[in-house]
Order: sequence, then C-alpha cells, then structure tokens
Amino acid sequence: MKYQIITILVMVLANISSSRAFNASNHQSTLFPCSTNPSSRYPSVDELLTLQGQEDNVLEWLAETWSHIKPVDGPTTAEEPKPPFCITRDKIADIHQSLQCLKRPLNVSELILKQGYPVEEHSVHTEDGFILGMQRIPHGRRESKADNCRRPAVILQHGLFACSSNWVSNLANQSLAFILADAGYDVWLGNVRGNTYSRLHERYKPHQKEFWYWSWDEMGKYDLPAMVDYTLKVTRHRELFYVGHSQGTTIAFAELSSKHSSLSKKIKLFVALAPVAKVANIFGVFRSIAESSLCCFAKDVLSEVHLYEFLPRTFLVNTLAGETVCAHPKTKFVCEFFFDMMGGYSCAHMNSSRLPVYVGNNPAGTSIYDVEHYCQMVLSDKFQKYNFGPEENLRRYGRLVPPLYHPKNIRVPVAFFSGGKDKLADVTDVEWIRRQLGKRLIYDKFLPSYSHIDFILAIDAQEYVYYDIIDLFKKFEPDM
Ligand SMILES: *[C@@H]1O[C@H](CO)[C@@H](O)[C@H](O)[C@H]1NC(C)=O
Ligand SMILES: *[C@@H]1O[C@H](CO)[C@@H](O)[C@H](O)[C@H]1NC(C)=O
Ligand SMILES: *[C@@H]1O[C@H](CO)[C@@H](O)[C@H](O)[C@H]1NC(C)=O
Ligand SMILES: *[C@@H]1O[C@H](CO)[C@@H](O)[C@H](O)[C@H]1NC(C)=O
Repeated sequence: MKYQIITILVMVLANISSSRAFNASNHQSTLFPCSTNPSSRYPSVDELLTLQGQEDNVLEWLAETWSHIKPVDGPTTAEEPKPPFCITRDKIADIHQSLQCLKRPLNVSELILKQGYPVEEHSVHTEDGFILGMQRIPHGRRESKADNCRRPAVILQHGLFACSSNWVSNLANQSLAFILADAGYDVWLGNVRGNTYSRLHERYKPHQKEFWYWSWDEMGKYDLPAMVDYTLKVTRHRELFYVGHSQGTTIAFAELSSKHSSLSKKIKLFVALAPVAKVANIFGVFRSIAESSLCCFAKDVLSEVHLYEFLPRTFLVNTLAGETVCAHPKTKFVCEFFFDMMGGYSCAHMNSSRLPVYVGNNPAGTSIYDVEHYCQMVLSDKFQKYNFGPEENLRRYGRLVPPLYHPKNIRVPVAFFSGGKDKLADVTDVEWIRRQLGKRLIYDKFLPSYSHIDFILAIDAQEYVYYDIIDLFKKFEPDM
C-alpha cells in the first residue's frame, strides 16, 4: 500500500514538475529517456524504493512547485514544446532532498502541547478486544499538577471519519477541549475503533477483515462503555459529562436507549452537537451515495480486494494534500468543497488558514460497514441496527429484520445544539429525536447559520456553543 502511494505520488510530482522544469536539451541526461520505450518513462519500483523512509519532507518542494502553476493565457510558443512527461535523475535527487524536510502533521497530543496544555495518552481495552487511544488534558494552562482539587470529568467524542483532533484544532480560546480545561474540567478525548488512534486489537490486525467487521452498533455497545468506565476509574468519579458530535451522538443515543445500559447512571448530562439518529432527510453527497446503491457497490468492490477501511489517514491526503492544496489560496477551495460535501462548510464561521491542521488528522478512517450502516438508514428512515441480510440477521438478532433502537427509553438529561445549514443532521431528522426524548431534553439551541462541522471547528463556537455548555455543566456541579 505504501509503495502504491509513493508510486502515485512520484508520478503526480513528475507530471506537475515537468511542465515547468522540462528542458529539451537535457534529454540525454534523463534517467528514463522520453523518446524511447514509453513504458520506461517512469522510474522502476526499485528506484522508487530508494525514496522509502524519506517522506519527511516532500512538502516544501511540492508547495514551491504548486506556486509555479499558472493558468495558461494563450497557446504555448514554439520554443516551449509540450513536454512528454518524464523524470530525470536530477528530479529524483530533488525529491530526495524535499522529502527530508517534509512537515509531518502534528498528532493530537502534539496539537495539545503546542497550545501550552498538558497531555496524557491512555489505552482503553474494550470487551471485544479493541485497544482505543484516549488523550487526557488533566488541567488548564494556568494550573499546575500540584493543584489537587477534584475536577469533574468530561468525555468529548468525535464524529464519522474523524478523530479526537476535532476538539483541539483551533486556538486555545476557540477549541472546546482547551476552554473546558481552563474552566476547571478534567478533559478526556475519545477515539472510536478503527481511526488513526485506535488501530490495535488483541487478536486482529488492520489488514484482516475480522478487524473491520463492525459498525457504530459496536461503538455504542463496546467503545462508549469502555471509555466511560476507564475515565471513571482513573478519575475516581462516579459520574461524568459526555459531549458527542455527529456519530458521537448516534452511539450514545443507541447505547442509552437500552433499558439495561449501565451508562444511564454514569452520565450526568449528554450534550449532543449536531445530533444524528435518523438520517432519512440528510442531503448532499451522502444522500446520492445511498440512493445510487453506491454504498453497497463500494463495499462489495472494496471487500473484494480486501480493503475494509474507508477514508483512512494517508500520507498522500493528510500530509501532502493538506499542506499543499488546502494551504494554497488558489486551491484551498478544493478542500472547502470536500468539507462541504461531508456536511456543510460555512465560510462565515471557519478560519480557512487552519484547513491544513484540520486535514492533517482528518479523515481518520472507519470501517466500510460503518458507512454502509448509515446508507441503510438513509434508505430505511429507521434508527436501527446494522442489516446483515435476512439469514445473518436471524442468526444474530433472532429475527429477519434488524431491531430498532428506542431513544424513548433514554433516562439521562440531554442538551441539543443543532444547525440550520447542517446537511447531515437535517432539521426534520433532529425533530424526530427531539420528540423521542420529550422532557429528557433539558436544553435545545438552534443556530440557523451553523453547518455540521461548525459545532467543532467554527471560530465563533465558543460564543454560541461552548460557553453555554459550561453554564449547563455548572447546573450539575453546584460547587464549581
Ligand atoms: C537547457 O539545458 C541546457 C544544457 O543543460 C542549458 O544550456 C540551457 O540554458 C537550458 N535552457 C533552459 C531554458 O533552462
Ligand atoms: C504523537 O507523536 C509523538 C512523537 O512526536 C509520540 O510520542 C506520541 O505517542 C504520538 N501520540 C499519538 C496519540 O499518536
Ligand atoms: C483569543 O486569543 C487571541 C490570542 O491568542 C486573541 O487575539 C483573541 O482576541 C482571543 N479571542 C477571544 C474571543 O477571546
Ligand atoms: C486563523 O488561523 C491562523 C493560522 O493558524 C491564525 O494565525 C489566526 O489567528 C486565526 N484567525 C482567527 C480569527 O482565529
């Protein structure tokens, strides 16, 4: 996989750069002369392998190259023949050199440290063998470890394709995790199975199908209770606050719907940002994917070639695209468009200079079965478990159709923050879950101009969302 990525990368680089660097008189010095056998235009696999382990800085080189690409104003002159694409020995040396100074995107812990906060990394074992990575910000910037007051614990849980970086991607006074840490909370960042920070299992490896055979049903059933129990054990609290975004709300609605859920007594307040339960009214790209059966098709094609992961973190996307395409004023619209497709991107609330930070850790990957589960829900208009097909449903659930979740059973107080421009948590679908919760819904704020990712990344979210969350928490913590 790594080799394929590097191959593609080098081909792309070779193509981009040759339009500027091509010099016909240098033909003789090319490693792979363009005029002869076309199949030898590109370096051999062996040549490419010499680039291995040197990913550490293509970026500057690529960024520089990118800045040379200009729109064509007229026909090219006779002196500048259209270059046949080829890569020279010099070019390889060039790439070698650029690889050495590549800026690796900061991981979650580094993002936290960079803003001046303490961080701890924790591993949480689930009942079904996954080892999840959690990060903890034990206290704020101005406090020291010596401060022994017992801080209320809060878990922040990211959404689909995402990871815990979502809570620490903006400046200190704009990111929920930092604001909570400074307000006196013990902040825990969750990561569900399969993403960048949760790729370990006691028995399976990520290249095996068994590793990926789950959807958000299992995140609710196993990951969520494991993270809550672990956090309570370490902090020696009996209860905590839970803030979920998108899929982070789906898994909590699902697990808390069970009358037997042990979580009901452990969560003081569940704050749902962009709540997602039913998704029949979702619009944008997900709707088209679900309706065109592309979901099933993609799942079949990918599993046929033994790929069970969807949108994983890769060098090509998260590092290269993040630092070049998203960082360049002329091309960053590509990234904005991507974000818009994923759930709505509102220029008014976003700081587009920080796109490389967001893209450095997202997408972070999930299972193709998780994506398929959402597609099933778009078509079924039901908040129900994954549909394995009649035979397997009968075996697993004891019935032909998957059981429904019943959020009417939820006993925990819930607070809603929903947006009018949210393509994934549409107002009609939010209305359904709102009615299910009835008087359990103790707070309900609607932000007409907010889209799906504004709740985690907008630079004004502290004003519209985060300070409200702290006020809500205080009602449950009279001593604070
Ligand atoms: C092309 O290469 C030749 C020989 O390497 C050099 O003399 C010439 O200046 C180059 N031309 C351009 C446009 O760079
Ligand atoms: C982040 O990177 C550092 C190295 O700079 C490493 O020690 C740490 O374990 C990484 N953290 C995570 C959560 O991957
Ligand atoms: C956030 O912090 C920056 C400096 O880090 C400051 O310029 C800005 O005014 C602060 N914003 C708010 C809303 O406090
Ligand atoms: C936007 O992001 C840039 C780059 O990180 C930062 O320097 C700037 O202060 C941010 N602006 C706002 C308004 O948050």
